[in-house]
Amino acid sequence: MNISDSERLASVLDGLKYKLTPNVKEADLIVVTMCSVRQTAVDRVHGLMPKFKEIKKINKNLKTVLTGCVLKKDKKIFIKGFDYVTDIKDIKKLPEILEIPNMQKMYDGTISKLDNYLDITPKYSNKFSANVPIMTGCNNFCSYCVVPYAREKEVSRPAKEIICEIKNLVKNNYKEIWLLGQNVNSYKDEKINFPKLLKLINDIPGNFWIRFTSSHPKDFSEELIKTMAKCKKYKPYLNLPLQSGDDKILKKMNRPYTTSQYKDLIKKIRKAMPDIALSTDIIIGFPGETKKQFENTARLFKDIKFDMAYINKYSPRVGTAAEKLEDNVSKKEKNRREKVLTKILKTTALSHNKKLIGKEIIVLIDSQKNNLLFGKNEQYKTIKINVQHPKPKNRYLVGEFIKIKTTEALSWALKGKLIDE
Ligand code: 5AD
Ligand code: SF4
Repeated sequence: MNISDSERLASVLDGLKYKLTPNVKEADLIVVTMCSVRQTAVDRVHGLMPKFKEIKKINKNLKTVLTGCVLKKDKKIFIKGFDYVTDIKDIKKLPEILEIPNMQKMYDGTISKLDNYLDITPKYSNKFSANVPIMTGCNNFCSYCVVPYAREKEVSRPAKEIICEIKNLVKNNYKEIWLLGQNVNSYKDEKINFPKLLKLINDIPGNFWIRFTSSHPKDFSEELIKTMAKCKKYKPYLNLPLQSGDDKILKKMNRPYTTSQYKDLIKKIRKAMPDIALSTDIIIGFPGETKKQFENTARLFKDIKFDMAYINKYSPRVGTAAEKLEDNVSKKEKNRREKVLTKILKTTALSHNKKLIGKEIIVLIDSQKNNLLFGKNEQYKTIKINVQHPKPKNRYLVGEFIKIKTTEALSWALKGKLIDE
């Protein structure tokens, strides 16, 4: 979402005739799109402030803007280190902020009519894989999470607009479309819910892959599972955040499902799409999480056998319900729990990857480094391909689908070779 927000920002700045500079010391403007979901991300922005101060000593013209997900209480601190701090939803106010002389014209012509910043046509940062936000905000109020405060309540984009954007992307040879939202499953535009939107996108002619993130297990309907299985362009990779494998902790997190309901859901998804790769999000060391409760997460982890997981150490966030609970799992213990889960994941991911050895698979190539091509397969696994005869002409493969044969499985990637080399 940060990348996608920055792409909209870049487009607004383009309209104001700003040009990208490789030399930050010469910049007239630096805009930072931040994330507040964990304190580590916020700390990184704090770390930038003294650097900007140094640059300003030699570059008097520099203006700095902070946007993205910024919490109210952080705004007060960040305003000391940035010239402007603004909500991402207000980036249409950027001309005003930057005091452009003919600002009024630009306001009337392009920006003032936008009541939702998602309407801004983005300047895509990638030429073959695009992020397309379909909704923003969240109404769920998980007790640890700042998103409902930072991005406020859910707003869905009109389906027509989404379809139009994707049609354009496909016309321009985009091969991968990521549908984005804090909770894509609660997408709603009159009669169009998320499964219907997925079907509409799948019906757009062209050779492209559809993926989406993120989902809440409580909103994952049978209709959606059926639609995913039917839609040929939807590729079998799903991130379904579990957060904890202990029912009491889930309750304290305000996640309204039980571990057994989650397991049933996974069973249904795997039954409908046997080759689906599953990833999840986990928070370790939530306030009061005992060793036994963590063991429940570890057991479920072993049981479900995820392909990938984003393991997050609990970080207390101001203003959330969990802030009132004592962050009483030590750093050392959080690190230990992280290691336990990573070890399980390494084994389960490897066992899934081994099943692909010797298979011919399609890969969307995303980069090339000398004689190595990198890409992702349909299941969003990283694929490394050793090219025997590295030629500059191989560059044409970047952004293309190619068929390869897998030769070796690692935990976090697979190796393969070109079939016709
Ligand atoms: N501490 C740690 N991880 C968090 N996440 C959200 N809030 C917190 C927090 N306070 C994680 C969740 C979510 C992912 C995007 O970030 O696992 O799914
Ligand atoms: Fe945060 Fe996701 Fe929960 Fe919304 S559903 S509050 S974004 S963790």
